[in-house]
Amino acid sequence: MRTRAKILDRNDPLAGWRDEFVLPDPELIYLDGNSLGRAPKRTTDALRTVVEEHWGGDLIMSWWDHGWLDMPLIVGDELAPILGAHPGEIAVHDSTTVCLFQLVNVALDLTGGAVIAIADTEFPTDRYVIEGIARLRPGITVRHGLDELAGVDVVVRSLVDYRTAELHDLAVETARARTAGSITVWDLSHAAGVVEVDLAGADVDLATGCTYKFLNGGPGAPAFTFVRSELHSQVVQPIWGWFGQQNQFEMDNPFRARADIGRMLNGTPGILGLTAARCGIAASAEAGIASIAAKARALGNYAIDVADYLGLTCSTARPPKSSGGHISIIHPDATTLQQQLARRKIIVDKRDPNVLRFGLAPLTTRFVDVHDGLTALAGMMVE
Ligand SMILES: Cc1ncc(COP(=O)(O)O)c(C=O)c1O
Repeated sequence: MRTRAKILDRNDPLAGWRDEFVLPDPELIYLDGNSLGRAPKRTTDALRTVVEEHWGGDLIMSWWDHGWLDMPLIVGDELAPILGAHPGEIAVHDSTTVCLFQLVNVALDLTGGAVIAIADTEFPTDRYVIEGIARLRPGITVRHGLDELAGVDVVVRSLVDYRTAELHDLAVETARARTAGSITVWDLSHAAGVVEVDLAGADVDLATGCTYKFLNGGPGAPAFTFVRSELHSQVVQPIWGWFGQQNQFEMDNPFRARADIGRMLNGTPGILGLTAARCGIAASAEAGIASIAAKARALGNYAIDVADYLGLTCSTARPPKSSGGHISIIHPDATTLQQQLARRKIIVDKRDPNVLRFGLAPLTTRFVDVHDGLTALAGMMVE
């Protein structure tokens, strides 16, 4: 099995990308799954420039001279090809939680409805956001489960399941919801930068996701909001701030939303976070999402083979029904095993109650890392 890993690594067209990342400890096997992607080396240089030259030297003028005011939309356009969106359809800002809150409110207003459907297995923040909205907006009903969509107005769902890595069919599920009369708000957090997403091709209306996982945007990097351009004029989002307003610096005007995707913005964007996100997005764009997705599938297939060979209980969907971005091993002592792995410099994460998640980030993960991580885990189970 390790020989196969070495051959796969030797033939990996993306192998050289590891050199583009900060890897101070050659012994560390980083299989976090994938809550924080590795730091691109270019991020250090870009942040230094922004802090020392722009912020330090040019101060307030930087908002205009270095394009800070437009950065959420500029970075959105740089992200667009990775997600199959058109220019002008993505803004990079705030957290996924905030973007979801905005988009679910937008979707409720667009449909004029009051029934939101979500799976009980959905990521907690998505469920909490909906519960919070139901508390704020009288008459909202939350329906649990996505099998039956008749009577549903808004569907909230992840494209890739954070526990099983199951990849849903974006076009088929968007159309199924639309046929039932609902709008889907897609959460692309575990898909962006690891699978090929075609938002335009799938005729998606609304989507969000984070940039700190496979897009290597850094801790707390801003999320993104996608709104299909045909909807821009109809979209009214709930957080009215001066960055979403037309003629932002005419201070005495009543709020009038910008005509473009900038209407989803709220307040002052975090320029350091945007700078880091931009570097991670650029790395993925240069490597090419088709190559990244192909390696993710290969890593996922290999990881499943190793897990099966070692007799581990693997709950991951098999490609092509999986993103390939992580595999999940089920064990009742997941917490203890995660800690034992960490002591051996093997970083994985745990999702309660019993899931050990091994992240497979195509730009930085080697096949031997997958082999060695899973083999160490199997060894601990018999110790
Ligand atoms: C599927 C999914 N949605 C949302 C979030 C939370 O995003 P944020 O912390 O940016 O609000 C995460 C975080 O890991 C996630 O995995």
